[in-house]
Order: sequence, then structure tokens, then C-alpha cells
Amino acid sequence: MKTINQNIVIINCGSQFTQLIARRLREMKIHSVILNWDSSPEKIKSYSPKGLIISGGPDSVNDPDAITVDPEILNTGCPVLGICYGMQLLAKLTGGTVTAGTSREYGVTKIQKTGNDSLLLGENIPQSMNVLMSHGDNVSELPEGFKATSLTDSHIISSIEDTQRKFFGLQFHPEVIHTEHGNYILRSFVFKVCGCSGDWNLSDWVDGMTASIRETVGSSKVVCGLSGGVDSSVSAVLVHRAVGDNLQCVFVNHGLMRLNEPEAVMKEYDSLGLNVKYVDASELFLKELAGVTDPEQKRKIIGRLFIDVFEAEAKKIEGAEWLLQGTIYPDVIESGTKKGSALIKSHHNVGGLPEKMNLKLLEPLRDLFKDEVRRLGRIIGMPDEIINRQPFPGPGLAVRCLGEITKDRLDTLRAADAIFREELKSAGLYAGIWQAFCVLLPVKSVGVMGDSRTYSEAVVLRAINSQDAMTAEWSRIDYDVLDRVSKRICNEVRGINRVVLDVTSKPPATIEWE
Ligand code: XMP
Repeated sequence: MKTINQNIVIINCGSQFTQLIARRLREMKIHSVILNWDSSPEKIKSYSPKGLIISGGPDSVNDPDAITVDPEILNTGCPVLGICYGMQLLAKLTGGTVTAGTSREYGVTKIQKTGNDSLLLGENIPQSMNVLMSHGDNVSELPEGFKATSLTDSHIISSIEDTQRKFFGLQFHPEVIHTEHGNYILRSFVFKVCGCSGDWNLSDWVDGMTASIRETVGSSKVVCGLSGGVDSSVSAVLVHRAVGDNLQCVFVNHGLMRLNEPEAVMKEYDSLGLNVKYVDASELFLKELAGVTDPEQKRKIIGRLFIDVFEAEAKKIEGAEWLLQGTIYPDVIESGTKKGSALIKSHHNVGGLPEKMNLKLLEPLRDLFKDEVRRLGRIIGMPDEIINRQPFPGPGLAVRCLGEITKDRLDTLRAADAIFREELKSAGLYAGIWQAFCVLLPVKSVGVMGDSRTYSEAVVLRAINSQDAMTAEWSRIDYDVLDRVSKRICNEVRGINRVVLDVTSKPPATIEWE
């Protein structure tokens, strides 16, 4: 797909901070794209970058199986900034030496400028400042043409420059707030060194992207799996604006949605003029999930069935050439980097589909952050109910219904969940919470209702606040609201006699329970 006004290419070597680099650039109105470390020089060049940033990463450059970039990317003619691991890679690939340090540096460290002329650590940067370091190795011998522009108190080289070739390295992380003047340093790189203009804005992006979708897709057909979520809905409306009814959407109801949600979502799509085929596959999903309690197995079954059902529907669409997916910037980063990295949860998406079905992938939101997707939705006239919808996991209530999934248990969970959200809404709290939902536990406890003993399951109230779902804080909800929720759930929902509150943040917990 044609790219629009790409200014900086960020090459991701697996640092947890890569997304922050992109975020900082966006705050400077710079458009960037994140590519995986193994991207070819041709691919990188196809974005016509004004500069490259090589991110940090967890490896050690001297390990035989360490992540590395194709050295050819250094010959694209654009300025290169290596951050942390990126600096070590840059140094190694240009002939320097990287050695394992005697002591590791994790945390805030003081650095001193060396007095060498510097484009990044120029006059406006004080002689000494605090920066965030997170490394074991360090550059012990500079490559030819480089000079050190700062050192730590223990004489470790903390920044390097080759102004001739416009190669720069920072051993610390300028993108995190703990680094003093980090923004200034990044600004110096993108504006002074790379000559970016900082004029990216969403309205222009919408116009450019609409034209690009039209040009790319032409008169062929696009298939889209809608989930009811913000990302897939906004992608669909954007593409619909560009190609009209050549977009054919499919909404698979897997029977794991919230109370009345499939009907509500279909109504919304209808009002947006989208061409949506509704497929009720709930019985199939329930049948295949019967007796399964392992979270990963649940996810795998749902993922596989979703692909089967969707594929069968998509095949009926004659002339389909494209598969539209609502991939956004953080998804690209989370799924990147190295093979074999620790899997916390396998996220359900339509991953294997494009190749299997011989479809080309259309991902117009790939370079946007979640808040930008919401703003985009507003620009293209979508209603708040869709734009402000809370994130909902692809496997739906399956990962909130712990233990065995049965229609009865799902209905119990749906009823409790609806009460929780209803009470939050009437207390005016819902809009300020990132995600609020109930989890049904396969745990029975003794209770008393009227004069009778009960022995029923427990429901958990989970409400969190977050910026990007990578970390989350549990929401402090007023006790009176919690009390109302608890009373209503026990009174109105059969099968629940105990309501508990989850007071765990992420980490150490995840947002969903499975
Ligand atoms: P966790 O539970 O990993 O969730 O802290 C982070 C965010 O992702 C959502 N989530 C999913 N979204 N497919 C999705 O599309 C999934 O399989 C999935 N699992 C979790 C979760 O709701 C939270 O917003």
C-alpha cells in the first residue's frame, strides 16, 4: 500500500520503549513507521525516510544469535540514530568494539559532556544531566570517524557521533521522561539533523489515506471482519468512504459477546451505511468449547473457528482481493521482534488468513495510536457509542468465564456484567474508566438468602485505568457504587451469591483473567 508522508523509520530491536519513541515523534508532529529489525534495506527505502532510529533491545550484540540489522541499511544515505542496543549495533557494524561491562547500569545515571562538538548534545544541553540507562554492554572502542560526546561518571561512553556520515548513538533512552532533555535531543535529531518539518496532522492524513486506499484497491473488492470494536469499525468506515460498496463486511457472532451487544452493533453498522453480513455461529463455538477449561486452549479453539467461519463467508464474496484489518500502531509493536520471545497470551486475530485465502492485506490504521483512531472516527463522522467503546478481547467472554463455558454460565456472567456497567454509567463513572467488566469464577461458596443456605459461584468486578493497556491501574470506585452493584448482582442474578473486587494492577496481573 502506498505510504503517506513517512518521515522517520524506527527499526525495532525489541525494546519495551520502542512505542514511546514513536509517541514522542508524534508529539512533534512527525510521522513515523516502526519496522522489525529484519526488514530489508529495500523495504526501509520504500518509505523514503528522512532518518532512521534503531531502537534498544534486550540482546547482547556479541551473542551469536543476537538481533542485528542488515548493514546495508547504513548506506541508505539518511541520518541514523541508535538508541541503547541500537547504538551498540551501530558501533559494532561500523567497526567499533562492544564489551560486556563489569557492572550493569539500570536506572537513572549522571552523564557529563566531553566537550567535543556535538549536534545532539549542543549548547542548550547542560554539562551534566540525569539520563535513564538500561544496559549491560557498552561501547569500549569507538569506530573510525566517531567521537564520544558524553561519558558516565564511571567513564562509560554514553553518546557518540559521526557528523560526517550523520551517525549518532545514545547509550541512554531519550524517549523516557526520566531522561532530562531527552525530548530536546530527539528534536535535534529529527529537525536539525534529518530536516523534518513537523507538520503531520490527522485531517491531512485522512485525505491522503482515502486517496491512497482508492488508488491501491481500484475497483477490486475488500473483505473485512468486523468485531464491534473501535479499530475494525473505524477502518471499515474509512475504507467505505474510499471504495463504497466494494467493501463487504462480515460480523461473526461467536456467542461470547456481552448482553445484547451483537444486536446493538449490527444496528450501528446499519446506520453507518456499511454492507455487513451477520453470521450467527454461536452454537458452533459453544459446542467446540464444551468441557475446555485451559485458557490457551480456549483462545486457540476460538481463533481457529473464527478463521474457519470467516473464511467460509469471505469465499462467497466474488472478486475479493483484499482483507481489511484494523491493525493499529501498538499491535505492530507488540507482535514484532524475535522468534521465541515469551508468550503471555496468544491474542486472537485473523492472523493466518491473508496467505491462506490468497488475499492482500489492507491495514490503513497501522501508523495510528488508539487516541488518534478515536479522533479519526470523529473526523469521519462516527457516533460516540462506537468511538468510545471500551476494548473487548477477541475471544470475548470466554476469557472472562473461568472454567467451563456453558450457555448458562455465560448468561449469568452477561447479566452481572450488564448490572456493573449500568451502575457505573448511572454514577457517571463509566466514561472515565478504560475497561470495566465482570469475571465469573468457577468457585463456589456458602451464602444465605432469606432463610436458605446457598452454594453458588462468585463474580469478580474488574475495573482498570490505562493509557495503552500495556500497564494498568485498578480503578478506585466509590464504596456506595460498589455496594449497589453487589446487592443488585446477588439479588438479580441467579447463580451468584458473592461479589468480590479485583485490586490488582498490571503488572503483576494482566487486565483479563485468562
Ligand atoms: P491483557 O489481559 O493482556 O489485555 O492485559 C490487554 C488488552 O488487550 C485486550 N485483550 C485482547 N484483545 N484479543 C484482543 O483483541 C485478545 O485475545 C485479547 N486478550 C486481551 C484486553 O481486553 C486489554 O484491553
